[in-house]
Amino acid sequence: MGLRDDVAKVLIPEKALQARVAELAREINAIYTDEDRPLLVCVLKGAFMFLADLTRYLEIRHEIDFMEISSYGKGTVSSGVVRILLDLAQSIEGRHVLIVEDIIDSGRTLDYITRNLHTRQPASLRVCTLLSKPARREIDIPVDLVGFDIPDEFVVGYGLDFAEEYRNLPFIGVLKEEAYQSSEGQV
Ligand code: IMP
Ligand code: MG
Repeated sequence: MGLRDDVAKVLIPEKALQARVAELAREINAIYTDEDRPLLVCVLKGAFMFLADLTRYLEIRHEIDFMEISSYGKGTVSSGVVRILLDLAQSIEGRHVLIVEDIIDSGRTLDYITRNLHTRQPASLRVCTLLSKPARREIDIPVDLVGFDIPDEFVVGYGLDFAEEYRNLPFIGVLKEEAYQSSEGQV
């Protein structure tokens, strides 16, 4: 059985993703100037594909950096525990920072990241997320750019994983019931 056989349905097809990412890039081009030289902070691992596409559509001068936060085990429910696994390589004091996230679910991860980055005194701090599940929000953090609001379903693909798999799928999809169960059983 291949990875794609585990997909029950495609929620956002590849073409729709690409079109929306290009639109988000146009919005970012309009927010910042070349002089701002914003730093895009990609939240690993989920946002790696989104960042890779987004940065290719950007026309303003910018830099990228990476941060990795752990908040989940291998299951589909947040543990609520957040810690930094990989920190930025540079100081962001006085910099215009744009956090690039894959998905905002409860909002806990983003709340932690924004509070943490705020203490480092950036010139500005904004958030761009590809996906958001408004129905699941526990902490309401302002989000500047949202690609798609999606229903309360666990999704994979385009960087997002279930138990570290399915990140390579070029679309956002929902897995078959069996795929979640068989993998969770191994944890
Ligand atoms: P939050 O802290 O509950 O907002 O969760 C945010 C993080 O959980 C995201 O950055 C993802 O890594 C992960 N996550 C939340 N929902 C999903 C999903 O549907 N699929 C894959 N990962 C998810
Ligand atoms: Mg993430």
